[in-house]
Amino acid sequence: MGEAVNILAICGAAHKSRNTATMLRNAFDGAMSVSGASGETVYLYDLNFKGCVGCHSCKLLEEKKFARCAVRDGLTPVLAKAIDADVLLIGSPIYFSDITGETRSFLERYFFPGLTYNKDRVPVYPKRPKVGWVFTMNAPGEFYKDFFAGLVSMTSRMIGEAEYAIAYQTQQFEDYSKYAATAFDAEMVKRRHIEQFPRDCEAAFEMGRRLAERGRQPTLD
Ligand SMILES: Cc1cc2nc3c(=O)[nH]c(=O)nc-3n(C[C@H](O)[C@H](O)[C@H](O)COP(=O)(O)O)c2cc1C
Repeated sequence: MGEAVNILAICGAAHKSRNTATMLRNAFDGAMSVSGASGETVYLYDLNFKGCVGCHSCKLLEEKKFARCAVRDGLTPVLAKAIDADVLLIGSPIYFSDITGETRSFLERYFFPGLTYNKDRVPVYPKRPKVGWVFTMNAPGEFYKDFFAGLVSMTSRMIGEAEYAIAYQTQQFEDYSKYAATAFDAEMVKRRHIEQFPRDCEAAFEMGRRLAERGRQPTLD
């Protein structure tokens, strides 16, 4: 008997080579380093989709509708993959003290069909994946720790055991002198990008590896 682990990384950042996507790539590489791992990364900004439209089709007590999102758009195949994942890695920069709109829209479409309004509130998806969040932001890390804890706790309740990795006081521009951005200490940000960001990426790699180890499923072969 072997072991397999199905990894899905969801990138909720607009740019594929900046802070969030880079950290998420490290988390994904960490997860993929585990034996039996297979997976892919989906970039939400490449897709054409909307958040939950509140049609309530997923709450209908009909086999073909219950626990499925009835909206058909660019997110439809991604939702099927997320439901089948053993490890889900989700990356978002912090925009206005929250995750990006695209990440939020993904969560609405993923979370809502996976819960009922029944008294017991038992999650209905067949798997309970391990979830690793990746957040990057300009503010110091402790600024949003209650927000991260809240999101992680909601994810753990609705989807599966979750944790997070962060990079804070990230480098937003290469050359701060070209932008209206005097509030930033450009030297400090640059130094952190060179010295701290690689360590944050290592922590993300380690988180991915750890979650994939824990998410491994036995196979029959
Ligand atoms: C529209 C917008 C809103 C932002 N809001 C916040 C914020 O509320 N708090 C914060 O710490 N950083 C904020 N930032 C900064 C980003 O979170 C930070 O630079 C992040 O690392 C960017 O990720 P990226 O490099 O993957 O694009 C904001 C950036 C943008 C573009």
